[in-house]
Amino acid sequence: MCGIVGYIGKEEALPVLLEGIKNLEYRGYDSAGFAILGEDEKVSGEKAVGKISALAEKVGGRKFGGKTGIIHSRWATHGGVTEANAHPHSDCKGVIWLAHNGIVENYKELKDELNKKGHSFKSETDTEVIAHLIEEELNPVRSRAPAQGGSPEGTAGAATSNGTFSNAVRNALKKIRGTYGLVILKSDEPDTLVAARNFSPLLVGLGEGEYIVASDAAAVLKHAKNVLYLDDGEMAVLTRDGHRVFDLEMRERDKESQVIDWSPERAQKNCYPHFMLKEIFEGPEAVENSVRGRLVLEEGNAKLGGLEKVMPALRNAKRILISACGTAYHAGRVGEYMLEEYGGIPVETDIASEFRYRKPVFREGDVFLAISQSGETADTLAALREAKEKGVPALAVVNVVGSTIARYADAGVYQHIGPEIGVASTKAFVSQVSILALLTLLIGRQREMSVVMGRRIANELTKIPELMRKILKQSDNVATLARKYGKYGNFLYLGRKYNLPVAYEGALKLKEISYVHAEGCGAGEMKHGSIAMIDENFPSVFIAPQDSVYEKMISNIEEIKARRGLVIAVATEGDKKIADIADDVIYIPKTLEMLTPLLSVVPLQLFAYHFGVLRGLDVDKPRNLAKSVTVE
Ligand code: M6R
Repeated sequence: MCGIVGYIGKEEALPVLLEGIKNLEYRGYDSAGFAILGEDEKVSGEKAVGKISALAEKVGGRKFGGKTGIIHSRWATHGGVTEANAHPHSDCKGVIWLAHNGIVENYKELKDELNKKGHSFKSETDTEVIAHLIEEELNPVRSRAPAQGGSPEGTAGAATSNGTFSNAVRNALKKIRGTYGLVILKSDEPDTLVAARNFSPLLVGLGEGEYIVASDAAAVLKHAKNVLYLDDGEMAVLTRDGHRVFDLEMRERDKESQVIDWSPERAQKNCYPHFMLKEIFEGPEAVENSVRGRLVLEEGNAKLGGLEKVMPALRNAKRILISACGTAYHAGRVGEYMLEEYGGIPVETDIASEFRYRKPVFREGDVFLAISQSGETADTLAALREAKEKGVPALAVVNVVGSTIARYADAGVYQHIGPEIGVASTKAFVSQVSILALLTLLIGRQREMSVVMGRRIANELTKIPELMRKILKQSDNVATLARKYGKYGNFLYLGRKYNLPVAYEGALKLKEISYVHAEGCGAGEMKHGSIAMIDENFPSVFIAPQDSVYEKMISNIEEIKARRGLVIAVATEGDKKIADIADDVIYIPKTLEMLTPLLSVVPLQLFAYHFGVLRGLDVDKPRNLAKSVTVE
């Protein structure tokens, strides 16, 4: 959560920072702020509550000269959503300015100590202590005249340096318990920017004569193709002459840069009104990109290069433990059905935030699989670490190349779907499910799956993108349906087997985009409780394609109708029976049962999107959420 960008280079910093942070706004949008260091060693800046647009509006046409600067968009953790709590934060004299993503767990103790030493705080945040800790390292408050208070518009006081900037940062960081992605400037060192990371993602874009530090790659695409991903406990010192990376013992690290192949256009909305809609429409391409080059049609098999080195472990695996959050968790649940039915291997899927706390019992032959679009989700990363530390081969399905989970996993499969910017995950889901289908082929063909079955699955998978495109053509009809049902404040989403996780996913989409109560429930389970909620004001969405549980679903629809409940059904093209009982039907083409989630999820994504838009909500940045959840 929280987006940070830092710039040191040849261009005026503010436009670069604003553009970069706009691309990261999905990480948090409670407030935003920046600090620019002018050549006169004067720090100037602005802060605003709300989105980046509020900050940009406040800036208006004002110029903030200076080629070094930092910017932040906040997802509040400690301290309310106020201007005072917006980053960047500074020390007493406005010499040190920093933007932070993460949580300083011991900030209260540190703040008390610093208060006793004479520091004065301007915010309620945990972050501000870091600035004061650095100040204390450079120029202890007790040893100088009373503090004057730094303000974004104030002139920086002259600090008498007791050590180098980077040393002071290092010493301060050693006192912190918690997580950080940090970018820091010092007013009297205009040619240096320091960045540091511990459990919060941070990378340095290596441009020509410029560096951009950012919490994720979307912010640097326009300026740099080569990036250095910082690891936990690393600090980068960026100057106009070059960059160096150290650990917190100041031992220099030799790091290799990585190339990012996303074009800047992929992080733009182009002709779509929202990223969410663009990304729903990119679903077919996402499946194509995730599957391309990985199917061996003749053999009815899959080839996943990223898993080569763990093939012996996969071949001998006795159980797969999947762990993920939110939408990625739902994809994992679909994978569980696929892998058990066709892969012939037991699978357990866990919500990552629960995984390590329930003290999982690992067994010989276990293989762990994390699924994460961002590759930065703290809970998923923690689950992966737990498995890896216990000696379980740890695999990952990840979209963002070079992300922490991607780097930490023993082996993995990249999604190759370009940036997903909308906070609601859409194209990532279909990509993850299609990769899990590939994994099912790979594992299944090593076990009981026949070549005939393998070919059927593989062939059908190649047809999925076209079938998805067909569903997307119904977007306007789904919008009409959203209008019809727009007045309701509660929805029950019901499915069975492969489409139970889709029911959960449909409900999650509606909740997060529209702030409307929606519950996913097993259609067979509803009679054990949820059906009590049903009346004429509580519609149900049934995901009921013609598959092995179809008849059961029809009975469940009847049960809802008998209680005057309204029913929207997602059904197989040509199904007249369902049209007679449901109030409204959205049709999807026929495919193999195990692949239906790739189709049935599409109308649900569209429904949530149109529902949210009709309510006048910012569907790309739903309240209280952030795209990449890097805190526990
Ligand atoms: O980046 P990840 O796939 O690890 O993210 C996991 C969840 O935070 C994410 O899917 C979240 O639930 C989305 N907002 C759902 O639309």
